[in-house]
Amino acid sequence: MPDIIRRIVVMNSKGGCGKTTIATNLASCYARHGYDTALFDCDPQGSSMRWLRSRASNVPGIYGVTAHKSAAVNKNKSWHLRLPIGTQRVIIDTPAGLRETDLLENLQNIDEVIIPVLPSSIDIHSTADFIRDLLIIGKLRTKHTRINIITNKVKANTIAFQALTRFLNTLKIPVIAQIKDTQNYLHATEKGLGIHEINKKVVLQDKILWDDILRQLES
Ligand SMILES: Nc1ncnc2c1ncn2[C@@H]1O[C@H](COP(=O)(O)OP(=O)(O)OP(=O)(O)O)[C@@H](O)[C@H]1O
Ligand SMILES: [Mg+2]
Repeated sequence: MPDIIRRIVVMNSKGGCGKTTIATNLASCYARHGYDTALFDCDPQGSSMRWLRSRASNVPGIYGVTAHKSAAVNKNKSWHLRLPIGTQRVIIDTPAGLRETDLLENLQNIDEVIIPVLPSSIDIHSTADFIRDLLIIGKLRTKHTRINIITNKVKANTIAFQALTRFLNTLKIPVIAQIKDTQNYLHATEKGLGIHEINKKVVLQDKILWDDILRQLES
């Protein structure tokens, strides 16, 4: 397994599209695959750190960092240097409402950006604006940062999903996964687990999906 640190940020200025769900599931997926993993919570709401605190001791550990601007730990700006030696993957959860200036700050040294998007017209419009800002201001393409989209809370064969698919086809950004709308995510989140840490047949397809997400991010 490679030793170099890779940083993956989950972001979309739109609230409630699944940033925390994806960040926590990705962190637990990496930890389960044997990577030394850190989870950064840049959101003052602290949902990722709440998830981490409820995590049981019999599942692989994840190093948590409260990283939002107003956190005391962040005052000396050195929080990002305080990762445990050997950390291999850093997953960063970000707040809703990120502005253009925040984007630049959040995108430093980032290898992968994941943008969750929901199948709804409001989400499609705000995500289109967000992606435009990301491409123009972040100048990501020249920095070798990869952008990926994950569609979330998908109900296949709905008009809303068809509209989302049409929108995504106009972008030249890979859609690396479709996460279905399922209560399993809520149940896992309550216990501080990733979906693939639940031992039930009903999540089998989701486990395959997350392994595939990890494979694509590592390719
Ligand atoms: N695939 C899914 N199926 C069902 N529920 C989901 C799914 N993904 C997320 N949710 C639920 O939707 C809600 C919003 O998700 P989440 O908190 O991950 O979004 P967020 O983008 O982090 O929100 P915020 O912008 O407030 O930080 C949560 O209650 C979460 O459990
Ligand atoms: Mg969140």
